[in-house]
Amino acid sequence: MELYGKGVFLTGGARGLGRGMTEALLSKGAKVLFCDILTDAGKSAEAELQAKYGADNVIFRRTDFGAVDICVNNAGIMDERVLERMVAVNMVAKIRGSQLALDHMRRDRGGRGGLIINMVSTTGKNPKMAEMGVTWRALCPYIVLTDLITVEDDQIHDTPAFRSVLQMLTATDGFLQ
Ligand SMILES: NC(=O)c1ccc[n+]([C@@H]2O[C@H](COP(=O)([O-])OP(=O)(O)OC[C@H]3O[C@@H](n4cnc5c(N)ncnc54)[C@H](O)[C@@H]3O)[C@@H](O)[C@H]2O)c1
Repeated sequence: MELYGKGVFLTGGARGLGRGMTEALLSKGAKVLFCDILTDAGKSAEAELQAKYGADNVIFRRTDFGAVDICVNNAGIMDERVLERMVAVNMVAKIRGSQLALDHMRRDRGGRGGLIINMVSTTGKNPKMAEMGVTWRALCPYIVLTDLITVEDDQIHDTPAFRSVLQMLTATDGFLQ
């Protein structure tokens, strides 16, 4: 995707990967609005990046930004002592952010299209617990025709994924493998 002139909204941009992605986007000519809960780190990242890429191109606060073309849901925490918060930030917020971005971007409802990136981790797929003798696998089937799939929402019915639903047998074959 051509990034020059694109507007990007990114969460968790004060440090780490988010800070790195913000700078990478700026270096390609995108304009970035980033948020974070770390006010001091956010302001200091904003000051450094504005000095390098221009005050109009990178902003750390809520502002009238016009259309958003790319949404990067990057904010995340890793602290299993606060499991509910981890699920809220790492999962629920990414889903909510994606839904908001989708509503804003979708062409069939007046948007101009876009790209949504959710930062996730391969450790969620196959956590390493070999020493405990426990194996984890995440199964990610396409849509399978079960009683669960009774939704009326046209957002789901309109997707290519929904049009190529799997039969139960195909899904269970995959499970056995
Ligand atoms: N570092 C890794 O090895 C790794 C690997 C796979 C996935 N990830 C994922 O990449 C993303 C970034 O990780 P990182 O290593 O740069 O971490 P980091 O801690 O350096 O940066 C994450 C940023 O998110 C911010 N944040 C946390 N909760 C927030 C909230 N509610 N609202 C706004 N900002 C919030 C933090 O303040 C921080 O600045 C996370 O989603 C993480 O789960 C990281």
